[in-house]
Amino acid sequence: MGGSEQGYANEAFRLNWVSTVGPNIDAFEAAFSQRIGLHSVCLDSGTAAIHLGLRLLGVGPDDEVFCPTLTFVASANPIRYLGAEPIFLDSERRTWNLDPDLLRRALRKKAATNRLPKALVLVDLYGQCAEMDPILETAAEFGVPVLEDAAEALGATYKRRAAGTFGRIAAFSFNGNKIITTSGGGMLVSADKALADKARFWATQARDPGIAYEHSEMGYNYRMSNVLAGIGIGQLEVLDLRVEQRRAIAARYAAGFADVPGIEPMPEAPDAFSTKWLSCFLIREAEFGVSRDELMRALNEAGIESRPVWKPMHLQPLFAGCECFGGDIARDLFERGICLPSSSSLPVEDQDYVIERVKAACGMTVTHV
Ligand SMILES: Cc1ncc(COP(=O)(O)O)c(C=O)c1O
Repeated sequence: MGGSEQGYANEAFRLNWVSTVGPNIDAFEAAFSQRIGLHSVCLDSGTAAIHLGLRLLGVGPDDEVFCPTLTFVASANPIRYLGAEPIFLDSERRTWNLDPDLLRRALRKKAATNRLPKALVLVDLYGQCAEMDPILETAAEFGVPVLEDAAEALGATYKRRAAGTFGRIAAFSFNGNKIITTSGGGMLVSADKALADKARFWATQARDPGIAYEHSEMGYNYRMSNVLAGIGIGQLEVLDLRVEQRRAIAARYAAGFADVPGIEPMPEAPDAFSTKWLSCFLIREAEFGVSRDELMRALNEAGIESRPVWKPMHLQPLFAGCECFGGDIARDLFERGICLPSSSSLPVEDQDYVIERVKAACGMTVTHV
């Protein structure tokens, strides 16, 4: 927490707006809109934002929706909520995000069978934007609308433009592990006010105007609590600091491993400014000396929690049988990739301890000065 969050949350109690409406929600949406330059709708999760966003793009039963295979399951689940089927696509090595050339080939193939996807979920992985220019150009050429899943990338930019401003709709997450948090929460953003208004309407059980509880459309209970929105206002004030802190951790690890063979950081593309939401590295066992899994075990024994890179969706039992274009790069990143402790509150001594234990795991002697 940055310090002012509790004050805003207390205000919700003082005014007795302990509800899913109230001044904190209005203020959080206004502050977020100002920061991102789009209309914003507070929701109770990033997943809800993706669900509503896909429905806004007209996704429905029997549609197909493109989605990168290397992502967290929440990018793909909402496709199924709507009765549609995900089609997965491989990553490129430059950004670990959706491969623009593969997207073009896949869309060509789909166009030839007259079955273009209804939408593309475009993920900004681990805080780094995808290759927006070629991807958006291709999607526009084939008339496929883009929903940007910027859950992990609040504060990132691509060619100086903010993550979350590239699709017709974008989703952010304020889950407890994200760059800023409301404990749980999300935001749907769009340049189109009518889309944002419709999302807000669906998120509040799609209650028609008027005093009667009349409903013409199906809705959801997806609104954020006014108490949690107070946390969000405070967190937004420290967003830039949090990004700086995460980037500093990634840089410290990278410098610490500069003389270690066989461990390389997730690349940051020249056009991209990543939030480094998580500090991710790839292990080349032949040079590093031990495998990614052995490294994770050694870290665990030293009391350090690490995680593998996301398991690709096309390897998940849940999506067995789904079509996938490529997939070998995502599989390789999953099998060799490791996410090291990345919390913005991680003390420098703990970061150094992680560096020390990684070096020890591959048999390097660690000298203390
Ligand atoms: C890429 C991605 N998409 C979507 C989500 C879903 O966000 P939430 O947990 O707020 O529902 C997350 C994180 O949890 C995520 O990492």
